[in-house]
Parts: sequence; C-alpha cells; structure tokens
Amino acid sequence: MKEYGHFDDAQREYVITDPATPWPWINYLGTEDFFSLISNTAGGYCFCKDAKFRRILRYRYNGVPMDDGGRYYYIKDGDTVWNPGWKPCKTQLDAYECRHGMGYTRVTGEKDGLRADVLFFVPIGHRCEVHRVKLTNTGKTRKSFQLYSFLEWCLWNASTDMENFQRNLSTGEVEIDGNVLYHKTEYRERRDHYAFFGVNRPFDGFDTDRETFIGLYNGFDAPQQVLAGTSGNSVAHGWSPVASHRFDITLEPGASEELIFVLGYVENALEEKFVSKGVINKAKAQKMMEAFATPEQADAAFGRLRAFWDDLLGRFNVQSDVPELDRTVNIWNQYQCMITFFFSRSASYFESGIGRGMGFRDSNQDLAGIVHLIPERARQRILDIAATQFPDGGCYHQYQPLTKRGNNDIGGGFNDDPLWLIFGTVAYIRETGDFGILEEPVPFDNKPGTEVSLLEHLKISFAHVTENLGPHGLPLIGRADWNDCLNLNCFSDNPDESFQTTENKTEGSKAESLMIAGLFVAEGKDFAELLERIGKDAAHVRKVVADMEEAVKKYGWDGQWFLRAYDYYGNKIGSHDCEEGKVFIESQGWCTMARIGADEGLCDKALDSAVKYLECEHGLVLNTPAYTTYIKDYGEISSYPEGYKENAGIFCHNNPWVIIGEAMAGRADDAWRHYRKITPAFTKDQALRKVEPYVFCQMVAGKDAEKPGEGKNSWLTGTAAWTWKAVSEALLGIKPQFDGLLVEPCIPIGTYRIHRRFRDAEYDLTIRQTGKGGSYFIPYKPGSQVIEIEL
Ligand code: GLC
Ligand code: GLC
Repeated sequence: MKEYGHFDDAQREYVITDPATPWPWINYLGTEDFFSLISNTAGGYCFCKDAKFRRILRYRYNGVPMDDGGRYYYIKDGDTVWNPGWKPCKTQLDAYECRHGMGYTRVTGEKDGLRADVLFFVPIGHRCEVHRVKLTNTGKTRKSFQLYSFLEWCLWNASTDMENFQRNLSTGEVEIDGNVLYHKTEYRERRDHYAFFGVNRPFDGFDTDRETFIGLYNGFDAPQQVLAGTSGNSVAHGWSPVASHRFDITLEPGASEELIFVLGYVENALEEKFVSKGVINKAKAQKMMEAFATPEQADAAFGRLRAFWDDLLGRFNVQSDVPELDRTVNIWNQYQCMITFFFSRSASYFESGIGRGMGFRDSNQDLAGIVHLIPERARQRILDIAATQFPDGGCYHQYQPLTKRGNNDIGGGFNDDPLWLIFGTVAYIRETGDFGILEEPVPFDNKPGTEVSLLEHLKISFAHVTENLGPHGLPLIGRADWNDCLNLNCFSDNPDESFQTTENKTEGSKAESLMIAGLFVAEGKDFAELLERIGKDAAHVRKVVADMEEAVKKYGWDGQWFLRAYDYYGNKIGSHDCEEGKVFIESQGWCTMARIGADEGLCDKALDSAVKYLECEHGLVLNTPAYTTYIKDYGEISSYPEGYKENAGIFCHNNPWVIIGEAMAGRADDAWRHYRKITPAFTKDQALRKVEPYVFCQMVAGKDAEKPGEGKNSWLTGTAAWTWKAVSEALLGIKPQFDGLLVEPCIPIGTYRIHRRFRDAEYDLTIRQTGKGGSYFIPYKPGSQVIEIEL
C-alpha cells in the first residue's frame, strides 16, 4: 500500500516523504494567541486571536490547485525555479521531507546540489511566525542563486476580504523600512494593529505589490520577478499587497547560510499609533526583529517551545507492547486535544475560520482533553463559557473568541447545551481538586451586575432539562441535541434557509431526545456526587435522575436497543418500526454510559445491537439504515447522501461513547476493537483515509458511502477529547476522582506502565492484568509514588 510518510516517535514527529499527499496534511503552530495553519508544502495562513477578524495571511479555500497561498520560498538556480516544499512550482525535487512536530514544521527540499531547510514555528511569548531558512551547497561546485520570500496579506477581516472588492482594491497600504516590509491597511483609521515580514539581514530587492511580483495572468507557480531573477521594488497602493524579499547568494561547496524571517503582528495603543503623520510606530516590530536577529536567539526560542511540549506531554504516558497505542496516547491524541482546545471548530482545512465561533457544547467537551495539561486555562474557559448562559439555563450556541460574547446569528435552543457545562466543570474539578471554582461569580449573557456563582449556573443548567420535559417525561430536544442535524422542529422546505437558524417550532412539539436523557442521567449522577462532596443536599438531583431512568426504561427502550427520539408528533425515531434510521449510536452510547437498565440487561443488549447493526470495517456508523430521501420532519440529517456525516457516516466523535459504554459493561474486546478502528495510528491504507494519518477526523465515510473508510474534517473535532477520555480513563483505566485516582482498566493488552502527573503528585504505575479484574484506588497525596497494581 502506498505510504506518504511515517511516525518518528522519538522526535514526536510525523515525517512526510512525498509532497503530493492525498489531501494537504497540515500542522498547527502557536500556543497563546498567535496561530498558524501550515500544510506539508508550507501552504496555509495565520491569525492573531480570531481567525475571522484578525487574519494576517490571505488563503484561497477550495482553490485550484488545492492549497494555494502560504509562506513560499522560491529558489532560482540558473533556469530552474523550485520551492523547498515542492509547491507552488512543483518542480521535481531530488529530496523532500516535511516533519510536523509539536508546534513546529520543518520542510526540507533539495535540488541540484542545493538544500533548503525551513523551520517554521511560533515562539512562546511573541506574536509571530519565525522561519529559519538554511541553505547548504551540497554539491561540488560553487553556486550562485537567488532566494525569494513571498506571502500575501489578508486585509484583516477574512470574510470581507473575499467579498468587498470595490473597497478592498483601494485600501491596501504598506511601508518599507530597513529589512522589514510592513502591512498597514486600515491602520490609518480604526485599526490598532499592523503586520510585518522582516529578515535579519539586508535584502537585494523586494516587492509589495502582487501584480508586479507575480504578473496579472501568472500563478503562484510562475511569479514573473522570480522567472526573470529580478525584483520590482514595488510599493503597493491598493490592489493586493504582498511581501517578498530577494537575496542574491553565492555558496562555496559545503557552505551554508542561514536567514531568519519573522512574520509578526503588533498592536499599538491609540496615542502611540504613529510616529509622524501616516508613519506607523514600529518600535514593537523592531523589538521582535531584534529578538530573532541571530541563530542562537532562534535556537533558544525553539528550545523553549520544545520544552513547553516536553513538559506537557510528560504528564501522562503509557508504555505498552502496542506502539500504535503508545504513540497515540503519548503524542498525537494529546497534541490534537490541545489544538482543538485552542481552535475550537474555527480554522482547519475543513473549517474556513470565518463561519463558526466557539461552540458552547464543543468547548465544554474539549476540556476533557486538556484539564490534565493546562488546568489554569481550562478554568478560565469554563468561566468564559458559563458567562454566555441565560438566567433560564439556556445559552448561546456559540460565542466569538475576540469578544467572548454570544453569537446572535446562531442563536440558541439546543437543549443538550446546558448539561455540557456540568460535564466540563466536573472534569476540571476531578482533575484539579479546585472546588473553589464553584464559588466564582459569573454573569449571565456577559451583563455586569447579574453575577451568580458558577455552582448556581450548574444548578440552572441541570434544571433546564427538568423544566423542559416532554409527554414521556423525557427531555425536549429543542432546536437539536448533540446531533446538530436532527432537526425535529424545523420543517424546512426552503433551500435558502439554514437548518440551524430557521424557525424552531417548539410550541406544541412532542420531540424528545434519548441522547439528552442519557446525558442527563450520566451528568446528573456526577452532579449529585459533586454536591455531596461539597456538603450540599443532592436528594432532589438523585430523585429526578431516577425518574429519568424510569422514563427511559418505559418509553425509551425499543426491545433490543434504545430509541433515538420522538419527533414533533410523538412518533418514534430509531426504532425497529422505522423504515430507515432504525438504530442510532448516540442513545446507545449515552444510555449505556449512564448504565440505564444495566441490571435488567438493557446495556448489554444495546451494545450487542451497536455491534450487530452499526459496526463496520472502519468504525461504528451513526445510524442505520441510512436515510435515502430528504425527510422534512427530520431536517438536515436526511440532507446528506447515505454514508456521510450525520447520515450514517462514522462520526468518530460518538464512537468513544460506545467504547466507554462497552468498558463500563466490562466488554474489553469490543471496546478495544472499536477504539482501534477509529484510531489513525492503526489505519493502514493512507490513500483511502486521505486525511492526516496522525490525527482523528470528525467523520469517516460509512458503509453506505461510495468509498467507505475515506476520512474528512480532520483535526478540529470532539473526537480528540472523547477518544482521550475513552483511552485514558475507560481503556487504560486511569480515572480522576474528586479525591484521588481510580485505576480500573478494561483493555486486553496484559501488563503496561503509566506515568501520570495528578495535581502535585507523580505516579509511576505498573499495571499487571492477571484476569482478576476489579479496581484500585489511589488517594491523592502530593509527592512521587511508585505503585505496582495487580488486577
Ligand atoms: C459537529 C459539531 C458538534 C455537533 C456534531 C454533531 O462536530 O461541532 O457541535 O455536536 O457536529 O452534529
Ligand atoms: C455539525 C455537523 C454538520 C452541520 C453543522 C451545523 O458540524 O457535523 O453536518 O452542518 O453542525 O451547522
């Protein structure tokens, strides 16, 4: 089978050896508020704080060819023009390699005795990308050639940048000063920020006007200045500002030269914006340039970045006999959890960075993947999210990271949303023991003066469900539950309206959700435990949870599996009575995680049904049989062709629910098999999978699709946090509790070791599975401990 690359676990890198991957295989740079997306050919873009409003580089989505736009270095060596990352010229290279590491990407190309090695990273403490370009003459003769840098500026708002040309083509402004090319469009009026692209030595020529550099009818693969070996020394006035430096370089055999480029972003206070009329204040940019003036400085910054990741990824490690498991747990799954936490669902090669803010439910779920890594930031995130809640427990479905305000365009009414705040907060407190967060004052809808404690927010989140019950005593679904596409109150026949925001006819609706019911029982039990732990009365919570369990057993059981929902009219969805969509995954996952009817054997039956009806070669599909026509009463779910997305795709996000359900039922072989099917490190066919083999994707085409096994929507997905929870807690059995760690594995891999930092404790565990089973509790105590456990 064709391979495009391989893992290098010792370096925590994925090494791509063929640039023509079946889809751009990307990485993310940045750990604070300056972030970049970078593909294996150096395509992509960066932004500061907000992918929509503070976009720095222009990118063409869905372009032809794919993935055009990025930070390109061109080398003109005689008549040959090439790029170290192969694109955009696509000149055949003698050698190519791209190493995606933790927060950095290194692209190396070699052609005709010249090697160009470019290391891209976003240093900690600076709002910039650093590009270290090292050129080496690997041949036997002296070489004279030219190096060009190139990137294209976005006019900040990534949305209007693609639309409002009557304005955009007249607003572009730049300044050139020393070795630095500045982009200052709109700085003259309300913006307090500009960007720059500088280099640590004088250049031989430059361009800032795209047409001059590329030529109006040329592509990125044939910039006219590069072809001619010249620079236009152009100063952009409107049209499309770019930044390019040219260097005329001669290298003796064996000799190297290194250049350090900085692509930075600066904000200035209003009164400090200009040094004289129209001339921008460059002090901060110059300071940033000085911080990367020498290779030693760049080395040190890179060292700090590596240390940051070494420390984070040193907190939870497994050592087993299964290398695919170890590399997923120790490296890529945790890394993806961090990236997903940073980016939510905003910017990837499947999300434009324009459309979506931070999701209320998504961001809460993402916490489960990072509470053990960056607890302080998890804490802040919980408080930010809670502040977008309304006094009745409902909330905005999304908020904008720049303002932290709820996003009115998307609205609310997704009735699962409030419960996820309990989920996120419980995960955080179990990891940290920080019960104090419950006392933090948090406003409603960010309105000062409305503050109540976070604990009150949790109470009204919980009550939001009991105050919105349907005819069977099950939770009303509202606009939708976790499945955005099960739109039971929408009835849209107008292609011009969005399923998410069109009228939501909840008045008189009988639409109830078994997914929310399961979520409510599972989170309700956790919530009760939390209340009791802090000395509060949880009797009411326990009572309504028990009532819900009864309602599920009575009205939510279909004989062999849990129903999915009742529709607007009170008809069943996900029942053997249905023609299509007989079995759904969400309710099997949540009701078995909640252990509803476990004693009566319902969980085992539901899990058996999941295996029997939903499992296929590549994972568990969301529903089966797939819907083959559009059903107005169900909405977007039936809009997708069979086998894709919410219509019988393998929606990886929800597979871990079944995996955890299996583990809770003690079914280790099933749990382990489901896990391996969706985990990329175990996937063999890279060409079929198409997207990056080192990260989970949201969706893999299901058994009804044209190409089952083809992945899409890689990187930004709740799959990251949920597979982390499944593998670390349910399979490997390391379960944080309010007062310690419970070790309760369910994975058929014999003996393994775990290193786990937990609050101020470090544990080195050897877990010998002898078949006895059971669990082992480690009460929290600061300090290091070595523990041998036999189960
Ligand atoms: C996407 C959304 C998430 C939703 C899921 C299922 O992953 O980000 O909020 O729950 O799709 O529709
Ligand atoms: C989720 C779903 C997607 C749907 C979207 C709603 O991301 O996966 O299918 O279009 O939510 O906007």
